[in-house]
Amino acid sequence: MKYLSSLKNKNLSNQICLLRVDFNLTDDDLRKQKIPLRIKSALPTIKFLLGKGAKVVILSHRGRPKETSDKRQVTRVYTLKPFVKILSKLLKKSVQFIDFKKDFKTIKTIIKISPRGTIFLLENLRFFPGEDKNDQKFARKLASLGKFYINDAFAFSHRPTASMVGIPKFLASYAGLLLEKEIKNLSKVMQKPKRPLVIILGGAKISDKIGVIKNFLKNVNGHKSRVNCILTGGGVANTFFAAQRLPIGKSLYEKQMIPTAKLLLRSRKIILPIDSAIQGKKILDIGPKTIKRYVEIIKKARTIVWNGPMGYIESPKFARGSKAISQAILKSQAFSVIGGGETISILPAACFKPHASRLFVSTAGGAMLEYLAGKKLPGIEALNTSL
Ligand code: 3PG
Repeated sequence: MKYLSSLKNKNLSNQICLLRVDFNLTDDDLRKQKIPLRIKSALPTIKFLLGKGAKVVILSHRGRPKETSDKRQVTRVYTLKPFVKILSKLLKKSVQFIDFKKDFKTIKTIIKISPRGTIFLLENLRFFPGEDKNDQKFARKLASLGKFYINDAFAFSHRPTASMVGIPKFLASYAGLLLEKEIKNLSKVMQKPKRPLVIILGGAKISDKIGVIKNFLKNVNGHKSRVNCILTGGGVANTFFAAQRLPIGKSLYEKQMIPTAKLLLRSRKIILPIDSAIQGKKILDIGPKTIKRYVEIIKKARTIVWNGPMGYIESPKFARGSKAISQAILKSQAFSVIGGGETISILPAACFKPHASRLFVSTAGGAMLEYLAGKKLPGIEALNTSL
């Protein structure tokens, strides 16, 4: 795989770069977060390219427009237009929006005749069916807009779409600065992590975390499994409770995952909450005894991975467990990786300070889980096989 960082001494003056990022953020995310992590994390690569005189064409998707039936809603809710203002402000440079009403030939000309250092943002790629279908014609059209391609969308690298795996077939392709950072940090957990390694898994679904659990529980090359313990909360823990036939009332869990959960419970490394915060008939957070126990375990860890909140964080009353976990990680000396949109939404500001280099906050949710499950991510594979 080629890295953008290796082009440090190259002159890219006037070269057109197609930069794939992941700006999959809702209006709510934009309202709540001062500078959303996904936008902030895209800036170093954009600045790097501008500094070398390149023209940058930013590509992203936003949401899942095809799942919405109301056509007028689709454009309003999923357009990338609001990002123009945000990016222009952060980059102190105007960003030009391309809305796809024009044909590709015209778009190509607009980009071509623009002065060096111009930044464009293309409208949501998912407005085109060719994106998700990885349509080769669409990929070729996109590729025709630029001279080289950068994947800086680690959070989307598990999706084999036209802009992720199609374009690299036609253009010289590189991993952007963010993608490089994500891979380097996550590899530290995958390859010889310092032990004790503690993985904390919560959130609604156990199904998307099973891969990580299995991958870290398995013995590697005759050695013991890499993980020392897996602390659980949220719907993940509830499904384990249900697998033990413990009463969970109306709590969130995944019935179809019970057989798998039963098998996994043979491992003593899976730790379940010992008490819970309950409202009505629902378990909505881990309880104080569990918090104490988990915090003690986190204190002794030398590597930590966390994905998925411990409870219903939308209500401050049930965000206590997750907040206590985040504080414990912040205090710990362990190398820690935290990911998942919901999980990072409750992190204290200190977690995002650059000095906290032992703490890496990933921009990814699903992609991080697939990477940690040991799966090959199509977006990364495409860079490995690209020109
Ligand atoms: C994400 O936000 O995790 C990625 O952009 C993936 O989005 P998707 O699940 O809609 O494909």
